[in-house]
Amino acid sequence: MESIRERKQLQVEDIIIRLAEEKDFSDIVALDREIFPGSPINPTTALQCIFMQRSYVAVTPTGNVVIGYILANMGEIKEAKVVEISAFGVAEKLQNQGIGSCLLERVINDSFSWSDDAVMLHTNVENKSISLYHSVGFRVVKLVEDYYEGEHLWLNGASKDAYIMMKPFIPFEYLQLKLEGAKTK
Ligand SMILES: CC(C)(COP(=O)(O)OP(=O)(O)OC[C@H]1O[C@@H](n2cnc3c(N)ncnc32)[C@H](O)[C@@H]1OP(=O)(O)O)[C@@H](O)C(=O)NCCC(=O)NCCS
Repeated sequence: MESIRERKQLQVEDIIIRLAEEKDFSDIVALDREIFPGSPINPTTALQCIFMQRSYVAVTPTGNVVIGYILANMGEIKEAKVVEISAFGVAEKLQNQGIGSCLLERVINDSFSWSDDAVMLHTNVENKSISLYHSVGFRVVKLVEDYYEGEHLWLNGASKDAYIMMKPFIPFEYLQLKLEGAKTK
């Protein structure tokens, strides 16, 4: 197993992004606990996302270490076909090197090619990653007050409020109609 020191010397261009598989489950859950000690993902949700085949991991060139993950699930909101990102993280020592952007782009490209209407996520209104989401085309569609409570209030943002952000693949006004349940066919 590679050490943290070796992980730090990784070149981002050598990192492999691939579909998450069942064998990655325990690594993903362990990394998620490292990144979100106060509010790790529910393991059942993680497994469901892996089975949906819309979730990705970033692994070292040897494939031995999971250093980042993005877990996504397919769903429908009224008439809209939406892929929801449930968890997203990169090992702390390897953040800010472009790995998170690569993971996001894979989910976005996949969703586009499967003709989904949008990719969606919730994020703490104080989370630094919001600028990253904007940079790949997400926009804030709703503020949800008191979204985080109890164990879900985590350190990366002291606020209890969340934004729902979406990256639409169809004109935004059309997406809004679908989200409201308007029949568009
Ligand atoms: C959010 C997170 C997954 C992003 O992953 P990441 O690998 O750090 O993301 P990136 O490196 O692609 O992008 C982060 C920033 O680095 C910049 N960046 C991108 N490629 C870069 C590169 N090659 N070199 C340096 N910086 C780069 C991006 O422009 C971005 O800058 P910004 O903050 O001004 O938008 C990661 O930071 C993380 O795990 N954070 C803690 C958990 C968390 O907040 N998860 C999201 C919950 S909603």
